[in-house]
Amino acid sequence: MTPNGADQANTLRQGTTSGHRKFSKKAVRCIAVASGKGGVGKTFFAVNTAVALQSMGKKVLLLDADLGLANADILLGSTPKVTLQDNIFSGVPLQEAVVKGPHNVDLLAASSGAGEMLEIGNSRMQMLIEDLLEFASNYDVLILDCAAGINDSVMAFVGAAPRGALVTTPEPTAIMDAYALMKVADQRESGGKFGIVMNMAADSSQGETIADKLVKMAREYLSLQVEKWGIIPNSKAVSSAVRAKKPVISYAQNEPVSRAIKTIAQKIINQDRGQVQLDELDADGLLDGLFKHGGAKE
Ligand SMILES: Nc1ncnc2c1ncn2[C@@H]1O[C@H](COP(=O)(O)OP(=O)(O)O)[C@@H](O)[C@H]1O
Ligand SMILES: [Mg+2]
Repeated sequence: MTPNGADQANTLRQGTTSGHRKFSKKAVRCIAVASGKGGVGKTFFAVNTAVALQSMGKKVLLLDADLGLANADILLGSTPKVTLQDNIFSGVPLQEAVVKGPHNVDLLAASSGAGEMLEIGNSRMQMLIEDLLEFASNYDVLILDCAAGINDSVMAFVGAAPRGALVTTPEPTAIMDAYALMKVADQRESGGKFGIVMNMAADSSQGETIADKLVKMAREYLSLQVEKWGIIPNSKAVSSAVRAKKPVISYAQNEPVSRAIKTIAQKIINQDRGQVQLDELDADGLLDGLFKHGGAKE
């Protein structure tokens, strides 16, 4: 984050808190999918959960908030010709920038460099956030697929969303990184509420035990609301689905991996706490997320 970026974000923050938001009163569920460690299945979880929620009758918008390594589109089997960048720089309306996924999940791909984002200027950035939130009012659920690491951008997105899905695996390094992310959220006092998703578990009882330990540790040492959302098995069906360019949940509906995701999606629907009025969604946090992705990973 450059000092210039910090100044700009501050100016914008003053703007967004000055009360000229015009977003709808509609409540959406907004979930930031984060992990600390890379390659643990954030995008896999974000995409498949989006498809599961859609099959349960929810209208879902997936925002690819991994600005460096956007790849949600690949897992959805779509090739976006238009991204947020085109909205920002060429004025393409969000309605046109959104990719209508083959699984009825709408995807906003964001593929922009930090420098470019900083260059667009305060009022344009403000407009983007307002447009984004206004646009999100067309949906029941907004899922942010975050980047790896615990940099400022990731933490800003996590802070902006009322719920974080913390994806991890039973590997000690992944657990340590997941804990580190919660610790940073705790230090930032962003009011984090996390659901632990234990992905790629070799066996479910081991997965449950490790997830329980992580939840216990977080509750003991951090003042965050943390709960276990579910265990997702490691499955060969996942790579077959990737090769078939389909989300596993529609490629192999009855596999344990797909059933595990559906169970978690149902849990998300049942949780009223995950809902937030759009006009209360943390626009400043989203703004910071878009601004700060140049920060160091770790
Ligand atoms: N439950 C699973 N079983 C098998 N492979 C998985 C599973 N979850 C994710 N993967 C694979 O692991 C790799 C990393 O997943 P990805 O979602 O890209 O991680 P991240 O977004 O956290 O970097 C991908 O190749 C993905 O297909
Ligand atoms: Mg990813």
